Amino acid sequence: MIEEKDRMISEVKEKIESLDNLREVNDLKVLYLGKKGPVNDLTSKLKDLPVEEKKSFGMMLNELKTELNNIFDIKINELETKELNKKLESEQIDITLPGTSIPSGAPNILEKVIEEVEEFFMSMGYDVYDGPEIEEDKYNFELLNIPKGHPARDAQDTFYIEGNEILLRSQTSAVQARVMLEHEGKEPIRMICPGRTYRRDEDDATHSHNFTQIEGLLVEKKDISLSDLKGTFDALAKKLFGEDCVTRFRPSYYQFTEPSVETDISCFACKGKGCSLCKNTGWLTISGAGMVHPNVLRMCGYDPNIWKGFAFGFGAERCAMLKYGISDIRTFYNADLREIANFDRKED
Ligand code: DAH
Repeated sequence: MIEEKDRMISEVKEKIESLDNLREVNDLKVLYLGKKGPVNDLTSKLKDLPVEEKKSFGMMLNELKTELNNIFDIKINELETKELNKKLESEQIDITLPGTSIPSGAPNILEKVIEEVEEFFMSMGYDVYDGPEIEEDKYNFELLNIPKGHPARDAQDTFYIEGNEILLRSQTSAVQARVMLEHEGKEPIRMICPGRTYRRDEDDATHSHNFTQIEGLLVEKKDISLSDLKGTFDALAKKLFGEDCVTRFRPSYYQFTEPSVETDISCFACKGKGCSLCKNTGWLTISGAGMVHPNVLRMCGYDPNIWKGFAFGFGAERCAMLKYGISDIRTFYNADLREIANFDRKED
């Protein structure tokens, strides 16, 4: 048996030497240690041996199995390491190669401006409202003190959906009326409403038939005056355009406010000295505003002898255009991603 064992071991050692892949090594292992292999033949002989030989034969057999398993394990290990090293070598990464750039999205700057305005007003206790873009004449005009046939309607000609009553809203001011009616003349109101508006305008660099307004309304029982409006507008302007921004009011006329004003900020490009952005005036107009007209309060359920309020409305695109130096309003609507990528930078 000893000779048989040594012969088999050297035979396997010799055969395994020339092998250089795992599959062949496994085949050889099955050939010797498998069910039909010589080791198994020897094992089946064990039961026919006389008792005195059984012990030493069994020990030899175990030694043979252990030895052969060792030989196979060492070879398998060696080949696996070799294969892994080969793989690592072929998959080596050249970290000096330029990477593949993955395009990433950027927030839309119009949305950024709207969010900034919302954050500012929410910090002062205002609620953000949403109103319908398809609106009734009643909310868009009548309740805002602009009856049928009023010449102010000409400047706000819009798209009519059904007859003369259902239209695409020409101003977010319509939401003022809705919110006041919702509160039934009983509660104070602080709200802003950003949203799309529509006009029958020819599109050019500064006009769009579809644009975005941000409306604001405050109604309180205590004495609210123009100076409250001025303070609010001043704080907003400083938040949007910087701490050194100066504001002013100019008299104006809107049907739903009395008195009405036009609000300006000092031109941030030239610091008020005069340049092409401010057409040499040193000022940039931002919004229309004023004290809510008593007629509007009354029609919307608020007693003007008890309640007072201010309102304002401004174009979000105009604000974003000024803030980011954009010269054409169509930039916001032509869906050219390069335009947005231009503003993809951290500002804070
Ligand atoms: N709705 C006005 C417009 O589209 C802007 C405006 C002016 C809104 C005065 C107001 C306001 O709330 O008080 O031209």
